[in-house]
Amino acid sequence: MTTPTRARAAVILAAGQGTRMKSPLPKVLHRVGGRAMLDHAIDAAEALGCERVVVVVGDHSPEVRAHVVKRLGEAAVAVQDPPLGTGHAVLAAREALADFDGEVVVTYGDVPLLKASDIAPAFGADGVTVIGFEARDAGAYGRLILTDAGLEAIVEAKEASADQLRITACNSGVLAAPAGVLFDLLDRVTNANAKGEYYLTDVVALAREAGHPTRAVFAPEDAVMGVNAQGELAQAEALFQKVQRETAMENGVTMAAPDTVHFSWDTRIGGGAVIEPYVVFGPGAVIEGGARIRSFSHIEGARVAAGAEVGPYARLRPGADLAEGVKVGNFVEVKNVTMAKGAKANHLAYLGDGAVGAGANIGAGTIFCNYDGFFKHRTEVGEGAFVGSNSALVAPVRIGEGAMIGSGSVITRDVGAGDLALGRGEQTMKPGWAGRFMAAMRAKKAAR
Ligand code: UD1
Ligand code: MG
Repeated sequence: MTTPTRARAAVILAAGQGTRMKSPLPKVLHRVGGRAMLDHAIDAAEALGCERVVVVVGDHSPEVRAHVVKRLGEAAVAVQDPPLGTGHAVLAAREALADFDGEVVVTYGDVPLLKASDIAPAFGADGVTVIGFEARDAGAYGRLILTDAGLEAIVEAKEASADQLRITACNSGVLAAPAGVLFDLLDRVTNANAKGEYYLTDVVALAREAGHPTRAVFAPEDAVMGVNAQGELAQAEALFQKVQRETAMENGVTMAAPDTVHFSWDTRIGGGAVIEPYVVFGPGAVIEGGARIRSFSHIEGARVAAGAEVGPYARLRPGADLAEGVKVGNFVEVKNVTMAKGAKANHLAYLGDGAVGAGANIGAGTIFCNYDGFFKHRTEVGEGAFVGSNSALVAPVRIGEGAMIGSGSVITRDVGAGDLALGRGEQTMKPGWAGRFMAAMRAKKAAR
């Protein structure tokens, strides 16, 4: 590409919150693919190379402000109070961009699916560029008045004539222009319209009057969808999941029932991995090619290497790190434990905070007792060790290389390499006792 790149900035509108989410959580902090919608918008701005990102927040949502400050710092917040329209909202960012001399794109905190690649074509013009879309149902969207001369104006549905309402080319709301042009035009926007708001969309007609070029570029309708209610949030999630699944399959991931596999925004799965039906990936899952994730497993903040097998019904929590050929079977929970090559925990276990050496075998029912009610402690199991079923390893504790733990043990002290540890009551034997007891009881019952 030979396009000269001018400096870029994004103004993300997140002020007019609405109340239709009917939730104490502010709208833009609701999640899609496990990530706040606002963060998706910031991600897109950053992926576009925006050197400045300003989020316009309302005075009534301290959580949104705090979220922005945490990710981008104080300088990224502009407050619009009260909200008097989209044009007014962009003006709230003027001060934050006072020393900025490049192109500005306006995007939205409640449009989570719009990617950098959808927005990029809006940059590079001298005047105003609007991202439009072909609406299946144009409803209340602003209509693009396109003529041979290009984009003449945007007419809001409330002010549109019957003829204009028939137009299906609609305004996504996303708009880009050089900073100087944009703010000069916004100074001329008035609120003399049906809603009594300062419309951002008015800058198109004003740009025309001032002799600036104006144009529309188009994006898919699904990409520009805005979320205003829980139902729309679920729709956005469904669209997001569809893209994740398709991308995974394009990358060579095998999924027999892709619709039942749930991804997070950052799920990474290598080509050649097999994901069986009904698997959920929380944030931070990395599955290498050649791994197999069996049905009904829940994986979050964990890495699974090639040739490892997880599930069915396994739970990997943050810090679970499974090397090549590791097996974690049904009803096993692993948290903050590295399992070296070929280690196995095949059934019913909790492994929390520790390390399992290569080829070690963790028997059914083993618990790493990692928490004393106040602090967490580590359990280390050496290479090739064998932990018998139903053992409680009370951390901090180390099991040496090649050591064995007898079934049913409660292990509170370190076990040396190659040693056997038994921590359970010794078995006592009473020859013939059961036979005598049963005979006596049978006789007693018969006499009643
Ligand atoms: C706007 C566009 C319309 C477009 C539609 C796409 C205008 C005048 N109209 O209409 O052409 O088709 O979006 O969805 O721009 N916001 C603020 N402060 C405000 C008002 C709004 O931050 O004072 C934010 C809202 O949080 C929302 C976005 O801007 O995320 C759009 O505002 P909304 O009131 O929904 O505009 P629409 O009437 O839908
Ligand atoms: Mg809207």
